[in-house]
Amino acid sequence: MKVSYHGHSVVQIQSNGKTILIDPFINGNGLTDLKVEDVHPDVIILTHGHGDHIGDTFEIAKRHNSLIVSTAEIATFFSFKGLRTHGMNIGGAYTFDFGKIKFTQAFHSSGFTTEQNEIIYLGMPMGALFMNEGKTVYHAGDTGLFSDMKLIGERNPIDLAFLPIGDNFTMGPEDAAYAAGLLKAKMVVPIHYNTFPPIKQNPQQFIEMLPTGNGIVMNPGEVIEI
Ligand code: NI
Ligand code: MN
Repeated sequence: MKVSYHGHSVVQIQSNGKTILIDPFINGNGLTDLKVEDVHPDVIILTHGHGDHIGDTFEIAKRHNSLIVSTAEIATFFSFKGLRTHGMNIGGAYTFDFGKIKFTQAFHSSGFTTEQNEIIYLGMPMGALFMNEGKTVYHAGDTGLFSDMKLIGERNPIDLAFLPIGDNFTMGPEDAAYAAGLLKAKMVVPIHYNTFPPIKQNPQQFIEMLPTGNGIVMNPGEVIEI
């Protein structure tokens, strides 16, 4: 499968002829190479309800009738808006015709702020495992470091892991490097940095901290085939 990075936490996977877009934050994402009118995902995976992850989901999914896969709460939220959804939850896996999705825990929060300045509860935040053709991609979502990352890597050997390194809202580079050691992923790519001033980081320094020496800084638009 082909996996590309598009700034902040935006990751796109091409699998079985389908396009799967994770956390499509495009408008307001100064680092992305994507435009809302140019993406046409069959599937949108959402790790949690924050604006920098839900992003442009409504507009994109409405335009392309994309299937939204996320927590039961986020799925219900979008189904009320007339969109196609598949609700799941932490620890559960489901095999779709484009591959298998399994959600993991993430230590974070998951409220959605409305235009009326209300915060809606949207379930637990999650990380996502995407599996197909004998390969596994892990998108950690937004999370702090947790020791069960070891368990996640043991139970689902990971070929490519996307880990947040921005600090402030998620793991910083030191904790993310430690996380990479727990996960034992074959390849590690830093995400969720440099989009906003509080999450400014040097990704190359993170790569040098990795105990396994297997990190790559992906520029927005860059593709890896696994
Ligand atoms: Ni978040
Ligand atoms: Mn975030």
